[in-house]
Amino acid sequence: MKGIVLAGGSGSRLYPITKVYSKQLVVIYDKPLIYYPISVLMLGGIKEILIISNKETIPLYRQLLGDGSHLGVRFEYVVQDAPNGIAEAFILGENFIGSDGVTLILGDNIFYGNLDFFYRALQQKKGATIFGYRVNDPERYGVVDFDKEGNALSIEEKPKQPKSNYAVPGLYVYDNNVVPIAKSITPSPRGELEITDVNNVYLKQKKLRVEKVGRGVAWLDTGTPEALLQASNFFGVIEDRQGLKVACLEEIAYLKKFISKESFTALVGSLPKSMYREYLEKIFQED
Ligand code: G1P
Repeated sequence: MKGIVLAGGSGSRLYPITKVYSKQLVVIYDKPLIYYPISVLMLGGIKEILIISNKETIPLYRQLLGDGSHLGVRFEYVVQDAPNGIAEAFILGENFIGSDGVTLILGDNIFYGNLDFFYRALQQKKGATIFGYRVNDPERYGVVDFDKEGNALSIEEKPKQPKSNYAVPGLYVYDNNVVPIAKSITPSPRGELEITDVNNVYLKQKKLRVEKVGRGVAWLDTGTPEALLQASNFFGVIEDRQGLKVACLEEIAYLKKFISKESFTALVGSLPKSMYREYLEKIFQED
């Protein structure tokens, strides 16, 4: 299973925060936003990760994340020239995906809590799995409607009159057919290759699973300054209470045994003196 983080978009709704750098580099409490989606892929055991962004920002991601070898993973980078839609990720990523399945996570989507719903989806070899998460404001998202048995009936992109309160989060698990499907769809009226159109092809083919995600999982929004503050406060509270960090990529690489004890020690030793480094030293001593 390959992983893609789509970190595109102009982030115009967050202007001027996003005037100089992209939204996914904005800080959520103590680390850049993009660490959170990357951590989800790594927790799922995905080690080959393609990061897609615009050409101005790719160099910054390279500086931040490198080739991934320090984390026992491989990061590759591809430029998306224009905001042509989420589904373009599979066309841009065709060579990277090869003959594997692929999980796509949007670079501004944060998940926190028990990720079993995601791990279960990764077990599936065929078809696609997407998720449904209850929100207050479904009209801002892709919206899935279920029948009484919990089967998906329809998925609509940002409907004015949502048929349910279940939004589709930006985490999608696909088999290899996603590449030809992405190539087969045409741009929507807003000029984008919509991920919802891809999901509707799978739905029509009866190859789409839509799993409801329980209320114990937090799927946080990062679309407004207020949402950014809420997310920062949320992780500030959790991290302070537990003395454990969320989405600490070095820690995950170590605990998931992507890297050896020796590599971890060398990695921590290479970090500047900081609270982040002290935290990693503590993790190592407690392990
Ligand atoms: C995109 C998708 C939408 C999905 C959302 C999740 O919307 O088009 O279906 O629910 O991500 O974050 P965007 O926020 O990019 O407009």
